[in-house]
Order: sequence, then structure tokens, then C-alpha cells
Amino acid sequence: MIKAAVFDTKPYDMPGLKKYSQQRGVELTFFDTRLTPGTASLAAGFDAVVPFVNDDLCAATVQKLAQQGVKLIALRCAGYNNLDVKAAYQRIHVLRVPGYSPNAVAEHAMAMLLTSVRRIHKAYNRTRDFNFSLAGLTGFDLRGRTVGVIGTGKIGRVFIDICRGFGMKVLAYDPYPAEGVPAEYVQLPELFSRSDIISLHCPLTADNHHLIGREAIAAMKKGVVIVNTSRGALIDAEALLEGIKQRKVGGACLDVYEEESDIFFEDNSGHILDDDTLARLISMPNVIITSHQAFLTEEALDNIADTTIDNIVSFFERGETKNEVCYRCESTDSCRRQRRERCF
Ligand code: NAI
Repeated sequence: MIKAAVFDTKPYDMPGLKKYSQQRGVELTFFDTRLTPGTASLAAGFDAVVPFVNDDLCAATVQKLAQQGVKLIALRCAGYNNLDVKAAYQRIHVLRVPGYSPNAVAEHAMAMLLTSVRRIHKAYNRTRDFNFSLAGLTGFDLRGRTVGVIGTGKIGRVFIDICRGFGMKVLAYDPYPAEGVPAEYVQLPELFSRSDIISLHCPLTADNHHLIGREAIAAMKKGVVIVNTSRGALIDAEALLEGIKQRKVGGACLDVYEEESDIFFEDNSGHILDDDTLARLISMPNVIITSHQAFLTEEALDNIADTTIDNIVSFFERGETKNEVCYRCESTDSCRRQRRERCF
């Protein structure tokens, strides 16, 4: 039987993973701990590991896994910015779940945007305290506003459809614009200067770290609302805080945060928060933070579990690597995959 070790396991991961692993003959062992160079030794004796977004798949972890005979990293997520792709190349195959519910993430982005612009978070707290005052709750209509969507892949396109349903004008930026996307593609400076709302739907790569920094914020409209359901480090959190304090940024909806890995997904309510930037952001009336939960729907969890187990079984039983993350594919166009072979 194929043996796989699941890291950073949360209660909501288990039902789906158990269901599909039992159906398809994969033996799973669940670890609560994150996968890091320090915990990689737990993977000894397993054929595969199943990490999540905040597991640390740096070169040292990858090397340890490979040395211990682990053959496969089966990511149970789409993004892989936590992986040293170069270190994994020719050492250990990496498969991911490229898409599991673009609707889950796009709908969460819109939920956060509506909460922010209609001040639902404030109203919710007020009415629980029998405070029925409307002072300070004035929002604005989305119809007729311009939204700038950065990244028009699976999630970005669903978000565009949702925004169009609200009667918004949609600008988009993507280095690889897609055919038939109902949006006006523009370059980033134009998107920054024309958008009332900016929503990030691109992966975090070496090139777009702090895509939204001081300069970008300076180029934006006063009162802009920024939505980030992609990856925290796309935004320079210090620059965002500064923009909010200067009243330049009118709202921030953050499902992800640069330094989230030691904080998000855990109950830290009994602890002193060491991260002053996050604490200050949370204290702002116009900042809404959710704890990387945009993916968290029943449909998405079921799809993640299904594809993760399918990736493991197809790899070990049929040698298939259709959802491979490969350094050579990313850096050249001459990978063996072009000849319909395995990347290595
Ligand atoms: P996708 O691969 O379908 O689309 C990504 C798009 O971004 C592509 O069109 C690509 O050309 C574009 N892109 C690449 N570099 C870019 C750049 N520098 N600037 C603008 N666009 C760029 O990916 P999908 O499924 O739409 O996911 C997007 C991102 O959403 C993921 O990379 C991940 O970081 C994030 N995500 C967040 C989740 C959450 O729970 N908060 C859950 C799932 C994904």
C-alpha cells in the first residue's frame, strides 16, 4: 500500500482525505506539525508527503525528504511559493492541485469587498450590542465603479464575472492576457491610477514580491480598496499600513498576510501577538482580515482531497505527473514534458 504523511493537518482536512484514501488504497498518517527542515525526519519510511501552503519546502526540507526515500511531494493546494522548485528538480517530484474551486476564492474576495464597502463588520458588532446607530456606516455602490483585477487565471476570471454582475467596469492586468476575458487589459500603472478597487489573483513569484508597495500605492486613487486573496507577500504590509494611515487607502481586505505562516490557521487568542504590523492593521476600522480561508468551502475541500489522492495514486501506479510543478518547465520551454514525457 502507498504510504503518505499529511503535514499541518487540520480537522477540516481529514474527512475528505480519509474518504478518498480509503477508496483508492492509500495509507495516510496525519501529523499536526508543519513540515520544516526540523520535522522532515517524520517523513522517513513514507512514499509521499502531503503538505499545505505554510509548510516550509525549502531546499533543506526537500533534500532531507529525498535522502529519506520520499518520492513525491503531493501539495494539497494550488500555490507553491513555499517550495524551492529548483531544489526539487530531479530530486523529488512535486504535484499540486491546480484548481479546486475558483468560485470559493472569488466569492470570498467579493464577500470581503462587500463587507468592507457596506461596513457590515461594524454593523454586526454594533447590533449585537443593541447599538442601532448608523453613524459612520455610509458605504458606496459598486455599480459603475472600476475594479482592477491583477491575474486573469481561473480565480481572476470568476471574480471578473461576479464584478460584471454587479455592474462594475473591469480593468485587468496579466503578463499572459487570455482570449475572451470580458475586461479591458491595461498595464499596471494604468490599472493603479484608474481603479476604485484592486483585487489580486496572481501567484507569488520571484518577480512580483511586493507588487503593491509604496510606489504602487502612491499611484493609486485616493480611497482605493485593496483585496488580497492570493499571497501575502504580493503586498508590502508596512507600505499598506502607511497608505491607510495617510488616508490614501480607503479599505483593505486581506485573506493572506506576508508573515502569516506562524500565525494564521491557529488559535492565538491566548497569546501576545508579536507582529506589530499585523496588530496595527487589525486595529484599523477599514481593514478586514480573514485567516487564509478563501478556499474553505465544502466543494473545495472535497476537490482538494480527491485530486491530491488521485495525484498520489496516478504517480505511483501509472507513473503519471499531470499536475507537476517543475523548475525546467518554468525556466525554459525545452522540458521533456513538451515531448509528452515525465519532466525528469
Ligand atoms: P491560475 O494559474 O489559474 O492563474 C494565475 C494567473 O496569474 C495567470 O493567468 C498568470 O498568467 C497570472 N500571473 C502570473 N504572474 C503574474 C503577475 N506578475 N501579475 C499578474 N498576473 C500574473 O491561478 P488561480 O487558480 O487563478 O489562483 C491564483 C492565486 O490564488 C494562486 O496562485 C494562489 O496564490 C491564490 N489562491 C489563494 C487561495 C486562498 O485560499 N486564499 C486558494 C487558492 C489560490
